[in-house]
Formats: sequence, structure tokens, C-alpha cells
Amino acid sequence: MAPSSWFLTLIWVWWLPLVLVEAQEQQGEVCSAKCGDVRISNPFWFTDLETGRSCGPPGSPDFQLTCLNNSYPFLPSSVRFTPGFAILNISYGKRSLHVIDLGKLQLLHDPPKIFNHCAPIWNTSVKLAPPFKIGPVNLELILYNCTAAAAARRGNELVLAKTMRCVNTSNTFVRAGVPHDPTGKYSSYALEGCTPIVLPVLGLPSGETNASQYEELIKDGFLLTWDEAPRPARKFTRQIIF
Ligand SMILES: *[C@@H]1O[C@H](CO)[C@@H](O)[C@H](O)[C@H]1NC(C)=O
Ligand SMILES: *[C@@H]1O[C@H](CO)[C@@H](O)[C@H](O)[C@H]1NC(C)=O
Ligand SMILES: *[C@@H]1O[C@H](CO)[C@@H](O)[C@H](O)[C@H]1NC(C)=O
Ligand SMILES: *[C@@H]1O[C@H](CO)[C@@H](O)[C@H](O)[C@H]1NC(C)=O
Ligand SMILES: *[C@@H]1O[C@H](CO)[C@@H](O)[C@H](O)[C@H]1NC(C)=O
Ligand SMILES: *[C@@H]1O[C@H](CO)[C@@H](O)[C@H](O)[C@H]1NC(C)=O
Repeated sequence: MAPSSWFLTLIWVWWLPLVLVEAQEQQGEVCSAKCGDVRISNPFWFTDLETGRSCGPPGSPDFQLTCLNNSYPFLPSSVRFTPGFAILNISYGKRSLHVIDLGKLQLLHDPPKIFNHCAPIWNTSVKLAPPFKIGPVNLELILYNCTAAAAARRGNELVLAKTMRCVNTSNTFVRAGVPHDPTGKYSSYALEGCTPIVLPVLGLPSGETNASQYEELIKDGFLLTWDEAPRPARKFTRQIIF
């Protein structure tokens, strides 16, 4: 499915975490099913939004996915009402997920003229809670949303954004290839008068992360990893004692 159609489901998806709380108590068999092209199995489990059926016993809520439109599994953001992640693939052996941050797609969606009517763009790392984390294989992309004055004194290594929604492209710059900072501060990359938006990307097929190709890098997504030993499945003890 094209990123543009993911964008269409975006607004609706923000409300999902609430809807899903209800679905958690349904019982099922061991989860091994497909959503789109992605095979879902332990520790993941999912709820089909249309049928309301869940695949797998209600395991750890951390690993609950939703199959959206029967086309891709969706991992919610850990911050309520913020866009989550579309899963492109899961490697069970490497415990990694190839995902796209749906919140960042709004930056690529035309029309570029609208830049002050956007939902806030969150840094990707903020929307991830254990057991998920950004894989060490990724590099970070930083988008600097600057004031006009700060834009005038930008460094040469920064690439001016071409089309990007939610920002004034005359004042927005891209930096690629930034190593992941576990503190999330990126202090050595701070620019006065600019608000940074930080997101992880995988390299291009050539292995590089060139800032001028930021659109492709954002669309190609990045790798999440998850920690071993998920919490044991919660047993819903609902024995009625009469
Ligand atoms: C749902 O999936 C169908 C078929 O894959 C696709 O044509 C349609 O655009 C999708 N709808 C949304 C809202 O993503
Ligand atoms: C998904 O990952 C599996 C295992 O890592 C790999 O064999 C497969 O080609 C991948 N599929 C896609 C569509 O990337
Ligand atoms: C970028 O900055 C402008 C002006 O300060 C603001 O209106 C806009 O919301 C910012 N965009 C993002 C994505 O933070
Ligand atoms: C975008 O920034 C440029 C340069 O600072 C400014 O001239 C222009 O008016 C801004 N555009 C909007 C729509 O505010
Ligand atoms: C994103 O991270 C940068 C670097 O830590 C920080 O300056 C910025 O305020 C963060 N943005 C948001 C929306 O939290
Ligand atoms: C990045 O890509 C642009 C255009 O494709 C190219 O001109 C530039 O040399 C590349 N930069 C690096 C560091 O490879």
C-alpha cells in the first residue's frame, strides 16, 4: 500500500488505542496468521478491526497489534493520540520490526503551503516505550524548523527542504547520518533558533544516508527491536463462582 493511503487512515488511527482496550479480553489460539504480507506470531498478537476477532491468546498488551484494512499491522504509539507505526516486516529471529512512523508521513504529504495547521510532530523515540527501541543499525535524520534569522546563518552541511508540509520550507533544513543518542538530547546538533524533529532512518540501498534524499529515507522506514522475555501472558481469571 502506498504511503499516501496510510496517510488517509492516519487521523482515524490516532483514536485506536482507546477502541482496542475493549478487545483485549477475547480468547484465541496460538497466533500465527498473516496481516497483509506480514506473518504475525508469538509474542505478537492482533485484533482484526473488522471482525473484532483476536489472533492468539491475549498476551502481553505491549505486543498487541491491529490489522488495519487487512493490509498492514499497526503498532500503536506509546503516547496517546499520536500516530503510531505501520509494520512492513517482522524478523522473529533478529527480534526486529521494519516500520514507518506514520506521524512523519504527514510531512511528505502535499500541499506544502499549509505549515501552521498540522498536528504536532513528535520525535520518534518519544513514541516508543519498552520493550521496543530504535535499533542500532539506524541513523537519525534531523529536520530543523528554523526562524528566518536562524535560517540565514545556517551551516553548509545542511540541506534545504524541498517540499515539506507543516513547516516553512524556506526555513527548514535537513541533516542526515546522525548517530543515535540514547539520551534523546542531541545537544551537539542543537541550532539556535531552530526546533529539531528527530527521526531514525535506514540507509538507502547504497548504504548511505544522504540528506537530500530525505523523502525516500522517511518513506523507507527504520528498524525497531524488541527485548527478549516478554512478560508472561496475562491470565484473565474470570471464573464465576456460584
Ligand atoms: C484498504 O485496502 C485496499 C486494498 O488493499 C486499498 O485499495 C484501500 O485504499 C485501503 N484503504 C485505506 C483507507 O487505506
Ligand atoms: C521480511 O523478512 C524476512 C525475514 O527476515 C525476509 O525473508 C523477507 O524477504 C522480508 N520481506 C520483505 C517484504 O521485506
Ligand atoms: C515550524 O515552525 C512554525 C513557526 O514557528 C510553526 O508554526 C510550525 O508549527 C512548526 N512546525 C513543526 C512541524 O513543528
Ligand atoms: C517563509 O519564510 C520566508 C523567509 O523567512 C518568508 O519570506 C516567507 O514569508 C515565509 N512564508 C510564510 C508563508 O510565512
Ligand atoms: C525533539 O528532540 C529535540 C532534541 O532533543 C528537542 O530539542 C525537541 O524539542 C524535541 N521535539 C519535541 C516535539 O519534543
Ligand atoms: C547527496 O545527493 C546529492 C544529489 O543526489 C548529491 O549531489 C550529493 O553529492 C550527495 N552527497 C553526498 C555526501 O553523497
